[in-house]
Amino acid sequence: MILVVGGAGYIGSHLVKELVKTNEVVVLDNLSTGHRWAIDERAQFVEGNLGSEADLEHVFSTYQIDAVMHFAANSLVGESVVDPVKYYENNVAATLTLLKTMMKHNVKKFIFSSTAATYGIPSVDMITEETSTSPINPYGCSKLMIEHILADYAHAYDMEYVVLRYFNAAGAYETAEIGESHDPETHLIPIILEHLLGEREHISVFGSDYDTEDGTCIRDYIHVTDLANAHIAALQSLLANETKTATYNLGNGLGYSVKEVIDTCERVTGKKANVVMADRRAGDPARLVASSEKIYRELGWKAERSLEEIIASAWKWHQSQVKVVK
Ligand code: UFG
Repeated sequence: MILVVGGAGYIGSHLVKELVKTNEVVVLDNLSTGHRWAIDERAQFVEGNLGSEADLEHVFSTYQIDAVMHFAANSLVGESVVDPVKYYENNVAATLTLLKTMMKHNVKKFIFSSTAATYGIPSVDMITEETSTSPINPYGCSKLMIEHILADYAHAYDMEYVVLRYFNAAGAYETAEIGESHDPETHLIPIILEHLLGEREHISVFGSDYDTEDGTCIRDYIHVTDLANAHIAALQSLLANETKTATYNLGNGLGYSVKEVIDTCERVTGKKANVVMADRRAGDPARLVASSEKIYRELGWKAERSLEEIIASAWKWHQSQVKVVK
């Protein structure tokens, strides 16, 4: 049985959809930002808190857990700057409670959702896992702290883990049963698509004076199903005892500017956007693009879906949301 903490959230629920095809799955989620309807019905569900010893005891004593995948975190860079306590409590302290409970029950295989935000403002165009980590906001710090804690747990308690540093997750499940549904929504692609559906008056481009070709920020967008498949490759490797500890970037290796993303959304949807130039958003590095060579070399995983496919899947999902109120 695989425990997926945060399996009702955007990325967790997409992982669960893939994982239930080959494994027994139990989801622990407090539904604070995730949705009950997003959890695949083949998975067991326990409503509870990652930071609650009682809730964790219940899960670990009820189910025979072979490995844990941890998606339950707050992940908004801007919010972390104004409310760091929330990030250190939920992302660090609560995760420590989970790790302690795992050790107590002798569960030693762990997959951790980390982030490109651990790199801060990188000094290189293509970020590899060797690029130095120097986060510039509490969100990135909170994730890097757990990475350090995991290294110490591996050394002291033989914990085996894979850290996956996501770049910009986007897109929706192929059938559009589930997709990105944040409240409030801050991410670029859903904001553009909501605008193109008439739900927002315009799109603000945060900064057009960056040191990039068209002056807007460049990001590496990765389809959420590609992300899910990387977790499954990492899990198989841990369960087969082929990996003891590893850290991998998860991206497409391609950078797209905010303007290019807007253009692609217009092309995919056939609609014209009303674009307004705005000030820079605090904490945004100009360019974040991943080399994912290492995970391809070691686990044979690479991203399969293009930016067009990411946007087309998200578009299908957003259109379905207009008709079905969940
Ligand atoms: N942007 C706009 N207008 C908007 C929204 C976003 O111009 O209305 C820009 C942002 O300034 C940024 C780019 O679009 O340059 C992408 O922004 P997102 O908010 O979609 O994503 P981020 O790159 O800020 O953040 C994502 C994850 C974080 C993670 C980070 C790591 O959401 O959790 O990638 O790079 F930390």
